Amino acid sequence: MILWRKSRGVNEKDIPNIYEIFENAKKRLQERAQGYRIRNAEEKDLEDVRQINMITLPENYPSYFFRELWIKYGKSFYVAEAPGGKIVGYIMCRVETKPGYFKHFLVRSGHIVSIAVLEKHRRKGLGYALMAYALKSLYEEYNCSESYLEVRVTNKPAISLYEKLGYKTIKILHHYYLDGEDAFLMARPLP
Ligand SMILES: CC(C)(COP(=O)(O)OP(=O)(O)OC[C@H]1O[C@@H](n2cnc3c(N)ncnc32)[C@H](O)[C@@H]1OP(=O)(O)O)[C@@H](O)C(=O)NCCC(=O)NCCS
Repeated sequence: MILWRKSRGVNEKDIPNIYEIFENAKKRLQERAQGYRIRNAEEKDLEDVRQINMITLPENYPSYFFRELWIKYGKSFYVAEAPGGKIVGYIMCRVETKPGYFKHFLVRSGHIVSIAVLEKHRRKGLGYALMAYALKSLYEEYNCSESYLEVRVTNKPAISLYEKLGYKTIKILHHYYLDGEDAFLMARPLP
């Protein structure tokens, strides 16, 4: 595994623009997920989001955590709705000021805190679309110039999704998770 390094500089051609990603996401949904839609989370969705998080991921949080992210960064908090209205996926983010991975100064970075899609509704383009909506709003609504996330080194579907979205592996975070598994820290510049 070759980790991306700041000194190499960013090959912009390598990293798809968020607007290109957004258009792709809409196209993929039309082709593979007719009747589904991505929309901003509402307060009434937060319990469904918590349930999906419990079912799909080992990293779980109390209700107030979801609510706090929704209150502070609601414009980047999205849900995927199946035909009929059931919530089947979500993405939630936090905006942080930190040293840039692509720029040599402090930047506003959109941290992808959690994303998941219920198993029955996967491989339809919903994960890609949730990320596309979140990246666009992190840039447009919160002025983020980078985005970053952590992912388990064994989570092949998620790593593949993030690579498709232009994220680069910056470093390994050893024993990042409570069960001792390592994480890749991945990031990309915006837009
Ligand atoms: C990761 C996750 C959100 C992807 O959601 P999804 O709706 O299935 O993703 P999409 O259909 O939009 O797939 C987008 C890309 O992701 C990758 N991908 C998704 N599932 C994959 C799988 N099972 N194997 C390999 N690649 C996969 C592919 O590159 C795919 O592109 P393609 O459709 O052109 O092949 C979903 O698998 C999930 O909820 N996993 C459990 C929770 C989780 O691990 N969250 C991430 C924590 S960091």
